[in-house]
Amino acid sequence: MTRSKTWNRRWAVTCGAAALMLVWAMPTAVAQEGSTPAALDYEFFTNNVQPIFLAKREGHARCVSCHIEGTPMRLQPLSPGATTWNDEQSHKNFELVRTRVVPGNPGISRLLIHPLANEGGGDLYHSGGKHWTSKDDPEWQTLAAWVQGRTAAQAAATSGASAAGKVRIIQTNSAGDNVHIIDPASNKVVGVIEGIEVGHGAVGDPNGRWIYVSNEAESTLDFVDVRTLRVMVKVPLSGHPNNLGIGKDGRKVYVSVRSEPGGVDIIDTVNRRLHKTVRTNHGIHNTYVTPDGRYAVAGSTPVGRINVIDTATDELAWYLDVDLGIRPMAFDQNPDGSTRYIFAQLSDFNGFMVIDFAARKELRRIKFPDVPAARQVKVGGNVSHGVAVTPDSKILIVNSRLNNKVYKYSLPDFKMLGEVEMTGGIDPNWVTLTPDGKTAYVAMSGSNWTSAIDIASMKEVARIPVGAVPKRNSTARLQ
Ligand code: HEC
Repeated sequence: MTRSKTWNRRWAVTCGAAALMLVWAMPTAVAQEGSTPAALDYEFFTNNVQPIFLAKREGHARCVSCHIEGTPMRLQPLSPGATTWNDEQSHKNFELVRTRVVPGNPGISRLLIHPLANEGGGDLYHSGGKHWTSKDDPEWQTLAAWVQGRTAAQAAATSGASAAGKVRIIQTNSAGDNVHIIDPASNKVVGVIEGIEVGHGAVGDPNGRWIYVSNEAESTLDFVDVRTLRVMVKVPLSGHPNNLGIGKDGRKVYVSVRSEPGGVDIIDTVNRRLHKTVRTNHGIHNTYVTPDGRYAVAGSTPVGRINVIDTATDELAWYLDVDLGIRPMAFDQNPDGSTRYIFAQLSDFNGFMVIDFAARKELRRIKFPDVPAARQVKVGGNVSHGVAVTPDSKILIVNSRLNNKVYKYSLPDFKMLGEVEMTGGIDPNWVTLTPDGKTAYVAMSGSNWTSAIDIASMKEVARIPVGAVPKRNSTARLQ
């Protein structure tokens, strides 16, 4: 139903005369154009409206906490252990909630004006309180869009159109309760996600609508709405999480499970549930998806093993045993986009290892130059942490915590091209690059800032204060 309407509309835009005939032939297409009441889209409801019922707003009880029992508008109870509704329950919710709106007219829809402050255009009283102060509230706007007939297909098309969304650096704070979002154009913090204690890793989804954060305090994967920066959904994981990676189309997130027996939790982001756990031997610290999207690569830290999962089947495809624990990894690409090398940092090795992906074997190890003991920074923990490759696969950027330096190597010949000593700061611990490959953002764990480094000159160009003990960071395009 939804698809055929969208299809009709595309036709209407692209081929004028033919569209006229289609519109005559199919009156539903006319209804969509707004002359008669807008149709309510089920998929938009599940993707965008239901999360609002589940979201926690500071100082308020959640809609679900009251509206599952005892109120006239009674939503379906959640299944035991579930954090959101399944398809059957969602359909029932849809049929119920649609009776509380006037299609095409958000301003008189009870769903929108009952929880809206009276001064902001809402009605006088809602036993559940006033959750939005004005119609400008992003949640209110989302509900209004639904009532006006916005479809999931339209929402996806819009996010596709702005796939060149705003480039952002997402910086987690391993000893904090927040995640900072940096605009690399201004090197300023432009947003803070609050209320995630010990966020380990964070990734943005390819549509720019969600940020996923692995939450170590609660062992959940937290779904953060990019527009409100609020946690909307928490999916319980099979164990204590570490870092995470996201599939190319954003439908699956691969979360490292550090607690024994260890594994990779695969979260279905559409149905918002744990889809599967791929067991590995021992705890996993970091999981990545290769740039071509074909593999999820997970590093076992207590024993050195690189586990390669085929993302088409979500089964272990192969693994490689190494004598040292696997720390951060990065990947470069062959001209056809397939993975050429894995660059892996190893426990207690002040350098990195190179693995030939196709041959599935170690190619070489590169040790960083020694620095005099007086210049070393001994903060404990692993000595080499943080590695990234420019999108053109020509440059490798890699940190040494011990040397307090960030190095630049050429690929694929591994010539050292430059370095920068992080003087004045302590502990380069993680790195992510801008999509143009021009700037590296290095988390300085001991200094509570993120350094921006110009890769061409290998000079530090900015220090951006963030939260306590910044570690993992990533680059995303957000709406
Ligand atoms: C503390 C409990 C509580 C919370 C939280 C709450 N509600 Fe309600 N809500 C009620 C009660 C009780 C009623 C019925 C009495 C009334 O209308 O005030 C109600 C009525 C409504 C109605 C009218 C129902 C009908 O049958 O027409 C709507 C719509 C509604 N709530 C939406 C929401 C939304 C959306 C949220 C979250 C943003 C929310 N409520 C949060 C308790 C709550």
